[in-house]
Amino acid sequence: MPREIFTLAQRPDLEGQVRRLDPETLPEFMLHDAVANRYWERLYSGFPEFQLAICEGGKVVAAGHTIPLSWGTGDLPETGFDAALEQGVREFEERRSPAVLCALLAIVDAKHQGQGLSRLILEAMRSLASERGLEALIAPVRPTLKSSYPLTPMERYIEWRRNDGLFFDPWMRVHQRLGAEVLKVAPRSMTITGNVAEWEKWTGMRFPESGEYVVPGALRPVLMDLEEDLGLYEEPNVWMLHEVPAGKAEFNPESPR
Ligand SMILES: CC(C)(COP(=O)(O)OP(=O)(O)OC[C@H]1O[C@@H](n2cnc3c(N)ncnc32)[C@H](O)[C@@H]1OP(=O)(O)O)[C@@H](O)C(=O)NCCC(=O)NCCS
Repeated sequence: MPREIFTLAQRPDLEGQVRRLDPETLPEFMLHDAVANRYWERLYSGFPEFQLAICEGGKVVAAGHTIPLSWGTGDLPETGFDAALEQGVREFEERRSPAVLCALLAIVDAKHQGQGLSRLILEAMRSLASERGLEALIAPVRPTLKSSYPLTPMERYIEWRRNDGLFFDPWMRVHQRLGAEVLKVAPRSMTITGNVAEWEKWTGMRFPESGEYVVPGALRPVLMDLEEDLGLYEEPNVWMLHEVPAGKAEFNPESPR
């Protein structure tokens, strides 16, 4: 089926379908990051030219959310995703000139996962960066298989390799095959808090006493404090860097993988 890639500035009519992709494929607790809840709407109202929709047969099957930033790539913040979203919105209001493009979320419709669409999203993000004269695409990457190893520190996990030398993690591999390199761990890329009842609703679990809990979909344990009635999850991500040649559009949705 023919694939087409649009920005939401080109095709504002696709916004509704892009929005509906998000809740279907992420664990419920991921929808309660305070920074995302405060600023995510601004991506649609302020940055439609940096939101990508991939269509098959006219229907949105995947999306890529990005935001431009004035940052260099030397000392990226420990609060990866949250810092990028918050500062991207602030810099836009201050009319700061961007230097890099930051990937915030790549998402493939649940029915279309496992078909190679994630590579297309990254290629489209890279093209967007170079078309805009930005020097790099940076990404606070959420390694997809890390949730199966929540007790392993992220610093160790990103050292794991397969026999062929490529990253153990499949989503990091997609970045790697496009030439990206790991810069550092972002230990508190997202911070998600809620009271115990909220966490029980989000996870379908019970938390009878204070302590650390392994929660499905979380990349590290969640800390529950029953006295404070507070559950705290700090999500570690991995900063990865794609250097992109200036002014060169490189994706073609029909090209072979
Ligand atoms: C992460 C995501 C974008 C990957 O998209 P996708 O189109 O399904 O992935 P692809 O088909 O391109 O496969 C990429 C790699 O993952 C592997 N993979 C795909 N589905 C997998 C699964 N369920 N389990 C393990 N590996 C899987 C593929 O084999 C491939 O690895 P390899 O070819 O190097 O061996 C998609 O799963 C998704 O939308 N997840 C929810 C949102 C999210 O977590 N986004 C990433 C954080 S920004």
